[in-house]
Amino acid sequence: MINTNKITKNLSDNIVITPPIVAEEIYKTLKRKQIHNILDVGAYRGDLTKPFKKKKNTKIIGIDVIDDYKENFDYFIHKDFLKTTKKDFENLNIDLVITNPPFKKNPKTGNLYPQDFLQHIFNVFGEKMPVVCIVPNYFLYNSKKRMEYLNNLNITKITNIHKDVFTNVKIECNILYFNIKTKTKHDFLGPEKKKEKKKRYFKSIALTEEQYKFIKDNIPNFNKYIKELLKKEFKEFPK
Ligand SMILES: C[S@@+](CC[C@H](N)C(=O)[O-])C[C@H]1O[C@@H](n2cnc3c(N)ncnc32)[C@H](O)[C@@H]1O
Repeated sequence: MINTNKITKNLSDNIVITPPIVAEEIYKTLKRKQIHNILDVGAYRGDLTKPFKKKKNTKIIGIDVIDDYKENFDYFIHKDFLKTTKKDFENLNIDLVITNPPFKKNPKTGNLYPQDFLQHIFNVFGEKMPVVCIVPNYFLYNSKKRMEYLNNLNITKITNIHKDVFTNVKIECNILYFNIKTKTKHDFLGPEKKKEKKKRYFKSIALTEEQYKFIKDNIPNFNKYIKELLKKEFKEFPK
């Protein structure tokens, strides 16, 4: 059932896609839990919950003001999440809510969207609902009022994410887990090390028998020798 309420598209700017390393980190933390129906709030393409597709008997329900990728989900609700009520999720038996909300301020409430999303999640699903929410670092400390609000929630794990992990924005952020027992309470997630593969570009050169013998007798490591020559000849030859 797709809700045909008028949807304000400007709610949805600042789309920051969750990189696979973050989605996999959340999956790794939760894969052994009994989870059957996950609600991805502000789901967009579903990158945040994609690894859970591997989990047997698990359905992913997406909700977003943009419905361009609704086929990526087992069920999709096209609606402003902040206007939803319990009725919208009737019979869906949601047992985990995951969200990567917009990080900006909601002009209607003056709160940052992550706070409005969290408040609404706990209003609709109850304060004991297991929730995973990605928030910027400043969300945790730049407002006394918000810190008091967070202090009353049951944060069971925090994973600090290095600023280079999100590839389209440089931002330090955190994965907050609420009401979920986990092995470790605090983790750090750094960027993936990109190993540059060395390719063999020049596989062979044509040599006479004599030239070949000369090289073999005089130059023990021909590749290294050529690289050294190139370095000497061209200062700009990359290391
Ligand atoms: C930061 S993006 C995250 C996209 C995706 N979940 C991911 O992690 O790759 C936030 C998403 O929330 C959606 N969104 C913003 N406000 C919303 C609202 N009030 N109700 C539902 N979706 C909303 C946006 O359209 C956008 O797709």
